[in-house]
Amino acid sequence: MDSIVVKGGTPLNGKIQIAGAKNAALALMPATLLSEEPLTLTNAPRLSDIKTMTQLLQSLGVEVTSMQNGKVQVLSSHDMTSTTADYEIVRKMRASNLVLGPLLARHHQAVVSLPGGCAIGARPMDLHVSGLEAMGAQIELKDGYLHAVAKGGLKGARVPLRFASVGATENILMAATLAKGTTVIENAAREPEIVDLARCLRSMGAQIDGEGTSTITIDGVDRLGAATHPVVTDRIELGTYMLAPVFAGGEVECLGGRLDLIEAFVEKLDAAGVDVSETPDGLLVKRRNDRARAVDVTTEVFPGFPTDLQAQMMAMLCTADGTSILEEKIFENRFMHAPELIRMGANIEVQGGTATVNGVERLKGARVMATDLRASASLVLAGLAAEGETVVSRVYHLDRGYEHIEEKLSAVGAQIERVSE
Ligand code: EPZ
Repeated sequence: MDSIVVKGGTPLNGKIQIAGAKNAALALMPATLLSEEPLTLTNAPRLSDIKTMTQLLQSLGVEVTSMQNGKVQVLSSHDMTSTTADYEIVRKMRASNLVLGPLLARHHQAVVSLPGGCAIGARPMDLHVSGLEAMGAQIELKDGYLHAVAKGGLKGARVPLRFASVGATENILMAATLAKGTTVIENAAREPEIVDLARCLRSMGAQIDGEGTSTITIDGVDRLGAATHPVVTDRIELGTYMLAPVFAGGEVECLGGRLDLIEAFVEKLDAAGVDVSETPDGLLVKRRNDRARAVDVTTEVFPGFPTDLQAQMMAMLCTADGTSILEEKIFENRFMHAPELIRMGANIEVQGGTATVNGVERLKGARVMATDLRASASLVLAGLAAEGETVVSRVYHLDRGYEHIEEKLSAVGAQIERVSE
């Protein structure tokens, strides 16, 4: 099992290339199931979660050809062999549940394991199920698997979502493209990854309106065709690396960064005393003074502050000047990085979904353990600012969502290396 060793105290300077979005690619790849023509994805990220999705799709009979060292993925579901998504794969990655909508839409059946809970919460699928049932699917839970059928195919319907769930919006959006009639998703998620998926589906021939707003209207068509689609920039990887110079000092340009993807996050950075400016190639980030200022953060659905940047922001606020209140409103258990940061000398008090962070002058390097993808990233970032050496174990969490984090950070001057333990 690998660990990441970080030595703090070196200011960073240089450029970091931001990759394509993991959470866009994990929805775009299952879209191949909607058409027998090939789907080509460019700017695809090279991550273990993408390998897991590839394995899942291949287990259904999808042909996946990886080119340009994984940056281009060509997928074809012309010769399907199964409509069952096995527990062994689904339990490793919740996003596997995104094959449910497309399989139902084109094959009128699917057997998909429930993903089970994960470190950050129970993460049920009730919104996915009720949305697809509104479109005529019969879905039954048997021995941990959702058994779904849509006799005669799915029908367009009005689908009001109790909560603007990203995954439920994606499953219902994909299913609706081949349903008979019109589907209206109300209180739809507005994340950039939804917009990216809608654009890809449209280039395959889908009739979609309103993506990026709370109401998405889809007129079903008989079939979808081939397409080539560039995966949108990863706004969470972007926000993670934008924080690196805030921790360590210096100035970093994040290539491919776009302000429109992370406005709520940049607003908080500005309030914390961080300069973010647009360049022709991305975003330039620099801390205004020697110490950031405390700010309050509440995670919300897009366009609010993203829950996937909460851990990284908390780590930064551990050494800010003043007291910050962080409220996690999306997941019920997403403060597991707090005890690890406390081991590094942070002063954090967690009460349910609220964390109070009293800024300290400096963190101290320690051995810490990652518990989920974004918590891992927050600990690596904390190591950049800490006195001495920080060892982050269970780096496999990081590899799910960050391409060679140690290479990207050492290229801008960080003292960081990956060691096998
Ligand atoms: C997506 O997960 C992302 N994953 C998550 O990123 C991200 O944190 C999350 O959206 C919120 O932005 C991918 O896109 C692959 P949700 P998803 O459905 O779709 C509850 C990362 O680090 N809910 O919007 O699973 C759920 O329990 C990952 O890259 C229901 O109650 O998120 C949670 O509390 C972590 N019933 C909340 O909604 C449902 O049917 C948000 O879930 C579905 C969800």
